[in-house]
Amino acid sequence: MTGRFVAFEGLDGAGKTTQVRAVAEALRGDGIEVVVTREPGGTPLGERLREVLLAPADEAITPDAELLLMFAARAEHLAARIRPALRRGAFVLCDRFTDASYAYQGGGRGIAAERIAVLESWVQDQLRPHLTVLLDLPVEKGLARTASRLTSGAADRFECERIDFFRRVREAYLERQRRSPERYLVIDARRGAPEITRTIAAALRAKPDAAAGRRPARRAGAAGT
Ligand code: TYD
Repeated sequence: MTGRFVAFEGLDGAGKTTQVRAVAEALRGDGIEVVVTREPGGTPLGERLREVLLAPADEAITPDAELLLMFAARAEHLAARIRPALRRGAFVLCDRFTDASYAYQGGGRGIAAERIAVLESWVQDQLRPHLTVLLDLPVEKGLARTASRLTSGAADRFECERIDFFRRVREAYLERQRRSPERYLVIDARRGAPEITRTIAAALRAKPDAAAGRRPARRAGAAGT
């Protein structure tokens, strides 16, 4: 594997999708091959599973079924897109990856991290993102940004959750970052979008070691609580 695998994470409303696109543009300007993808999704099967997972439904989905569907989509995604792109030497920028399973199904739904780790090893073997960009945002700010989707009926199954759920999700992300700070770049998502893009692109352009997580933790103005 010679490429670079970068995951973008954060609460709904943190601006991940905007940043993935803008950072991809910046790196392509340097002549780098960049593959932009997302989870759940990224393949035809993954996008079908995404529809199932995000559609607000009367019928509840059990936390285990939700987690297993996330990893089913991930298995397909890794085999069909992520691993081939990394073998070619491309940068893969992924809008959410396994940290989201630890945060949403672990923190949010209450599944033990040890159970998620079993699936992580099974599906990914040794592969982990070289760097995870965590766009951190106080929960109230994230909810304010997604509020219009709720009132217009455009909110997905996760966006319909209550504030306590998102508090647990944010705490799970931050707890994972505290345990392995070298794998994360934490950014205060309240900063201006262009400034955030510049910070991320600079970190990714730095020596390969920087994105491979061999340097001490970098915190680029992490958000307070
Ligand atoms: P998201 O990527 O935020 O898309 P959009 O910006 O279009 O709303 O939505 C995906 C949702 O899926 C998000 O609420 C988090 C959830 N999710 C999990 O719960 N577990 C996972 O492993 C992944 C990848 C996503």
